[in-house]
Amino acid sequence: MTDTLNARTADALQSAFGHAPDLWVQAPGRVNLIGEHTDYNDGFVLPCAIDYRTVIAVKARGDRQVRVVAADYGHAVDTFDLDAPITPHPDLQWANYVRGTVMMLAEHLAPLGLALCGADLAIAGNVPQGAGLSSSASLEVAVGQAFKALLGLDSVSQTDLALIAQRAENRFVGVNCGIMDQLISARAEAGHALLIDCRSLSGQPVHLPEAVAVMIVHSRVRRGLVGSEYNTRRTQCEAAARHYGVAALRDVDAAQLVHDRGGLDEVVFRRARHIVTENARTVDAAGALAAGDLVRLGELMAASHVSMRDDFEITHPAIDQLVEIAQQAVGHEGGARMTGGGFGGCVVVLLPDARIPDVQAAIEAAYRSPDGAPPTIWVSHAATGAGALAPAHPAT
Ligand code: GLA
Repeated sequence: MTDTLNARTADALQSAFGHAPDLWVQAPGRVNLIGEHTDYNDGFVLPCAIDYRTVIAVKARGDRQVRVVAADYGHAVDTFDLDAPITPHPDLQWANYVRGTVMMLAEHLAPLGLALCGADLAIAGNVPQGAGLSSSASLEVAVGQAFKALLGLDSVSQTDLALIAQRAENRFVGVNCGIMDQLISARAEAGHALLIDCRSLSGQPVHLPEAVAVMIVHSRVRRGLVGSEYNTRRTQCEAAARHYGVAALRDVDAAQLVHDRGGLDEVVFRRARHIVTENARTVDAAGALAAGDLVRLGELMAASHVSMRDDFEITHPAIDQLVEIAQQAVGHEGGARMTGGGFGGCVVVLLPDARIPDVQAAIEAAYRSPDGAPPTIWVSHAATGAGALAPAHPAT
């Protein structure tokens, strides 16, 4: 799969700019196993990277121009100058992920006495877009990785790259996301999920049991209201943290949640309860996964879904139904829950490889979206994080 993306980016670079790449980099999309909306509450998340990624072919330039060709968007080209203020592109949304990341990377490097060089980039990817699988984080992290590889920026850690990518998303693209998507894309290890402490940004790789797969089922429910509802949830969580007198809901435990509840709005209380219980479930789930206890993991994933449905109210009736279908099909051999920001998007199913065909068939037979669309299903194993793909100056 990556070979095809390599070839497509090399072709795009050749036809747009007339030369072969110096190197390739890649950054994957992600799926979150458990720990939803906990990242911006300084809490815990347990995502893994997926076998779908953004690939960039990179060629250094001797000047201060950045030229970018998007193989997936009709070979559209964006050009900007590192010596002029970098502003949003008026038409090309994909270009803003590139411009934003380059700008934040340059800002990160300046105090270190380091500067970017011009480059030609060709981009192609196969992370499904609009499905909540972090295609935009994978693009941002890949752009950062491209310059890191080109300039040998060893002092820029993978965590720095994730923070730079998140800053691009927050400040340049204008989406108020947490750190989960960029961090797992930058730091994932093959065969492992990553238990991330979103306060310290420390990560503990958790080995997935042998022959366990991650099935991703797109509900085909359109992700409406994502932005506005996401921001509302953030505001409600901040209000709850203020009520409990803590820096973030991460600092509230189950006992304090109930004991100090007095005077808290009922809806805001339920939002807080989701975060407090989800943090505990996520840490438990990492333990269950490490122990190969898929029964316990399945229970925790089911409880997470109920909490997202009833307390955080970010699911959708069709997705609730899809989760039920998946849970029934998997039984006690794995688990299923909605994954990502919510209001549509995907369900994640953890299951033994041997069960993939029958679980897939059961879901395809039983589920239709409100518009009558069948689900789209991808199967992945926990993939590696961002990095260089090939030696510089590959044979032509
Ligand atoms: C989106 C955001 C993440 C995280 C999830 C919910 O994917 O980008 O930062 O908040 O929603 O867990």
